[in-house]
Amino acid sequence: MTDNIWEQRYQVGQTGWDRGAFSPALRRWLDEGVLRPGEIIVPGCGHGHEVVELARRGFAVTALDIAPSPVAALKQALQQTDLKAEVLQADVLQWQPAQPVDTIYEQTCLCALDPALWVAYEQQLHRWLKPAGKLFALFMQTGREGGPPHHCDMAQMRALFSGQRWRWLTQQASEVPHPSGIFELANVLEKRL
Ligand SMILES: C[S@@+](CC[C@H](N)C(=O)[O-])C[C@H]1O[C@@H](n2cnc3c(N)ncnc32)[C@H](O)[C@@H]1O
Repeated sequence: MTDNIWEQRYQVGQTGWDRGAFSPALRRWLDEGVLRPGEIIVPGCGHGHEVVELARRGFAVTALDIAPSPVAALKQALQQTDLKAEVLQADVLQWQPAQPVDTIYEQTCLCALDPALWVAYEQQLHRWLKPAGKLFALFMQTGREGGPPHHCDMAQMRALFSGQRWRWLTQQASEVPHPSGIFELANVLEKRL
């Protein structure tokens, strides 16, 4: 058995985070035209239902996950639909794109990381984006200590994605229900120059 805890979970099917379909938050952002085709990075993509939908809608997607099983499954799913996306087994804290991109779709990768790593992760997200690039973020709300998934307290998120480095575009974050009974808060942030 691998020592990667995420791979272990995929191997035994303990994937309570997986909706089995792309998120209603992504559907809304796409349908409202807030999220428009361009280059997009999806960190911690898991089985990548969102990656398939983004590829179907014409985005140039680069998707990353540290666990090999979902990466292999997503590559196969893309092949079966004849859609194209770059899918990599990589650590979000190490990997760098060849050049900065327009958009990041962050669906609960942050909450999967130990909070001691959040500052380093915020730096990665900031580095990956072009100036004025957008971060579409789903912040997990567990309302409890410990994890993963770790609770993404919104005051803590405002401090982590500080106003000096990010413009918070969402006035009122909407709740996105999660099959496990908890929910995420949907926010759009823009990288400041
Ligand atoms: C809560 S799951 C979310 C998966 C997917 N975004 C979804 O919503 O179904 C977190 C994902 O992040 C991945 N992950 C955890 N740590 C990572 C890291 N350091 N680099 C890349 N992926 C990571 C896990 O393997 C897992 O697929």
